[in-house]
Amino acid sequence: MAMIANKCSDATVTVVDLNENRIADWNSDKLPVYEPGLLEIVQSSRGKNLFFSSDVKKNVRDAEVIFISVNTPTKEYGSGAGQAADLRYVESCARMIAEVGGGNKIVVEKSTVPVRTAQMVEEILSASGNEFTYQIISNPEFLAEGTAMADLENPDRVLIGGESTPEGQDAVQKIVNLYATWVDLEKIITTNLWSSELSKLTANAFLAQRISSINAISALCEETGANVDEVARAIGSDSRIGHKFLKSSVGFGGSCFQKDILNLSYLCRHFGLPEVAHYWDQVVIMNDFQKERFVQRILNKMFNTVSGKKIAVLGYAFKKDTNDYRESPAIAVCKRLLEEKALIRLYDPQVSEGAIRESLQMEEGNHFDSFTFYDSIEDACHESNAIALLTEWEEFKDLDFQRIYQSMKKPAYIFDGRNLLNLRELEKIGFRAFGIGKA
Ligand SMILES: NC(=O)c1ccc[n+]([C@@H]2O[C@H](COP(=O)([O-])OP(=O)(O)OC[C@H]3O[C@@H](n4cnc5c(N)ncnc54)[C@H](O)[C@@H]3O)[C@@H](O)[C@H]2O)c1
Repeated sequence: MAMIANKCSDATVTVVDLNENRIADWNSDKLPVYEPGLLEIVQSSRGKNLFFSSDVKKNVRDAEVIFISVNTPTKEYGSGAGQAADLRYVESCARMIAEVGGGNKIVVEKSTVPVRTAQMVEEILSASGNEFTYQIISNPEFLAEGTAMADLENPDRVLIGGESTPEGQDAVQKIVNLYATWVDLEKIITTNLWSSELSKLTANAFLAQRISSINAISALCEETGANVDEVARAIGSDSRIGHKFLKSSVGFGGSCFQKDILNLSYLCRHFGLPEVAHYWDQVVIMNDFQKERFVQRILNKMFNTVSGKKIAVLGYAFKKDTNDYRESPAIAVCKRLLEEKALIRLYDPQVSEGAIRESLQMEEGNHFDSFTFYDSIEDACHESNAIALLTEWEEFKDLDFQRIYQSMKKPAYIFDGRNLLNLRELEKIGFRAFGIGKA
């Protein structure tokens, strides 16, 4: 929304959220999300044509276009638990729009939703009994955290789905015009509603599938002496395959990939396609296997026990340049290491200690004292038995590993879960160094 405000000076954009603390943060210079370049974009428009407010109803009533951008997490209860998308926030937005009404509205699904969600929104809006007209548009978001500003400024494509009626096509055109302010028309794809909704789930499923595919091969590399980086380079040179998303690692994370694949597979089962569901399930199963394999490798190399051993964990965010740790592989790895009675010494430049403890469900008594948060990498590594690198933060590339090695217990191990470091150089220093997909 900040990018739309920045590019479309004629539009007034008001971001509303029920969470008042979040709105207060959006109105401050300590934004609730860390994203390179975001603060500058917000500051350039805030107070001019970009506003943040918790007065949801008033702003929705006044708006001509409403982007529903609320969370659509995996359902944690009842029917479809652990698979289906929890649509209660989308539904409550639709009900609130129906309640406040107000003239002609274009209601845009920006959240990632299961295919056919627009039908639910339509049923709610049509039952409002309020004197207002509306069109529903699907406009899924394809940005990636960490590179969101560049992705928004120069997207590979913008997808806009709408109904084929003249009113539906009018609404599609209005949203096209908004983006056309800065995006080339040939990059703006228009489709029907269902293709647009399904394309977002499919895009995430394909992206995650590539990571699970190369991670599956990484397991075989470790057994055979092949090197997964070399294999990725070799296969990526085939223009039909391409190089992107072939980096093997401890596993994918983030708030989207897992939930969207689970949702896709739930939809397949719902529509009587169990074989298709099973196919996509494997992407998540492989990702879980990769995280567990990483922990097993640590155990195997450290004489089958980490009990009482200090492990410096570098990185908790699910990728670099974000403070988002939702579904981060670090969560699963840290939980397993704590189960194995390791002492975790964690450093991350953006994720806070409180957030980490919460995600590890650490209360008094539950491994509480087995975890220490450090503001300095050197302190986290000091007297540790091993380093587990779990996020590819740039600052981890150029550490003084010679000094770090000297401060560690011997033998000193390093497990690079992102294939970020030069293992041969580390071995020269004296480390027992292991990457992913390398013997
Ligand atoms: N995070 C990403 O990188 C990304 C990328 C593409 C798509 N998406 C999709 O965008 C959607 C939002 O993701 P997110 O990561 O921003 O989620 P989030 O949980 O960080 O933010 C959602 C916000 O919606 C607010 N909210 C919930 N119900 C509300 C209501 N009824 N009225 C007003 N505000 C309400 C919450 O308070 C919260 O601040 C999801 O569907 C996600 O799949 C996210």
